[in-house]
Amino acid sequence: MIASENRGNWGSRLGFILAAAGSAVGLGNIWGFPMQVGKGGGAIFVLLYLVCVFVICFPIMIAELALGRSSGKSPIEAFAVTKPRSGWWLVGTMGVLAGVGILSFYAVIAGWTLAYVWFTATGAVVGTSAEIGAFFGAFVADGNKNVVLSLAVLVITAAILLGGVQKGIERAAKFMMPALFGLLILLGLRALTLPGASEGLAYYLKPDWNEISNPQVINAALGQAFFSLSLGMGAMITYGSYLSKQTNAVTSAVWVASLDTAVALLAGFIIFPAGFSIMGFDPSTSGPGLIFAVLPQLFATLPGGQLFGTFFFVLLALAALTSTISLLEVPTSALVDRGWPRKKAVLVLTASITALAIPSVLSQGAVASLSSLPGLGMDFLTLMATVWNNWALPIGGFLISIFVGWVWGADKAVAELTTEGAHFPFAKGWVFLIKYVCPLAILFIIIMTARGFFAG
Ligand code: TRP
Repeated sequence: MIASENRGNWGSRLGFILAAAGSAVGLGNIWGFPMQVGKGGGAIFVLLYLVCVFVICFPIMIAELALGRSSGKSPIEAFAVTKPRSGWWLVGTMGVLAGVGILSFYAVIAGWTLAYVWFTATGAVVGTSAEIGAFFGAFVADGNKNVVLSLAVLVITAAILLGGVQKGIERAAKFMMPALFGLLILLGLRALTLPGASEGLAYYLKPDWNEISNPQVINAALGQAFFSLSLGMGAMITYGSYLSKQTNAVTSAVWVASLDTAVALLAGFIIFPAGFSIMGFDPSTSGPGLIFAVLPQLFATLPGGQLFGTFFFVLLALAALTSTISLLEVPTSALVDRGWPRKKAVLVLTASITALAIPSVLSQGAVASLSSLPGLGMDFLTLMATVWNNWALPIGGFLISIFVGWVWGADKAVAELTTEGAHFPFAKGWVFLIKYVCPLAILFIIIMTARGFFAG
């Protein structure tokens, strides 16, 4: 089925790759990945992450794209039309909820990047490591400012979404991706040539094998992989539904996964050498403030650092926006496919997500009970991130792999992916992964984590 005029379509294969990569590349790569590497013990996390990306998540990305393109529908309807008179549409519904949940905390962090554009441009973040850290702490604890910033992120996202799929998303991504990539390489080169960078490099690349069987670390790596690639909640089903039959979905998936992984790895090549060199980084303290502490100090070592820094945070904010767009597009397309006018869907969703974002905004020091939830020992934003990333997305991915591999049928998916004579060189391997490896591996990780969680 060809997507109708009203639903919109990608302008070109490049446009699709850029938009999907724009969805994937975001705060997850540049803010989340280094933080998780720091929490997860360095190189061992990197290794586990890469295994999750290529063995578990990449096959699921292909599965989501195939399901979206074949049905031409948003997640709920995609399951419903592919397997009518069954309960599978619930998986789509869970994905829609995940989109709302993730966006509610994602907007908060995206708001921080907006503020840092301003802080860097005006030279507000300067001083010793301790001063820069304290600056971040005081800033995120300012509830009023952060409510406004999160709202700004959500309003901009809504405005772009109202502009329609092609014009809004493709245009933003076409400029942003290459610029971001170039700047990251430049910053990486600078970080690697700092005195003492090798210590950070060793932390980043030399695994401590004792951690390899720690279920918490494995679960975090899996959650991070799903989150970073925008998988497990139907974002790629939705993007696949705007894909024309002439576009090779498999090749596009290779591009998107590679770009996403390259950006995350690059971020690590910046943060760890710079972190160890400039501020004697202590990984055990890794948290949401990591990049906001390290990067301003790295910019300070560059000629014209203020300008570079400002440009960097502009690009990071744009990368975050191409991701918030995809997060909002999933629930929006679900409502549009149910007959809602696009405008009404966007407005109702934006208002609800804003309300849901408020506890996350206030959980960074503004309100004590939200900043350290009684009995859980974590703040509300971290709780949201854990529930959605580490649990909801992998469970969604598990169900999607069962659905595509067994219910719809891997052979039908392969037929969809090879229409118009498209090349799918490793189809047999993919079938094996999606039917057996993905569901079993995810199930195993989830059970291990749950056991650890309930045991202590
Ligand atoms: N992948 C994005 C990032 O790394 C976040 C994101 C956008 C996302 N859309 C998504 C995560 C859909 C899960 C599902 O920043």
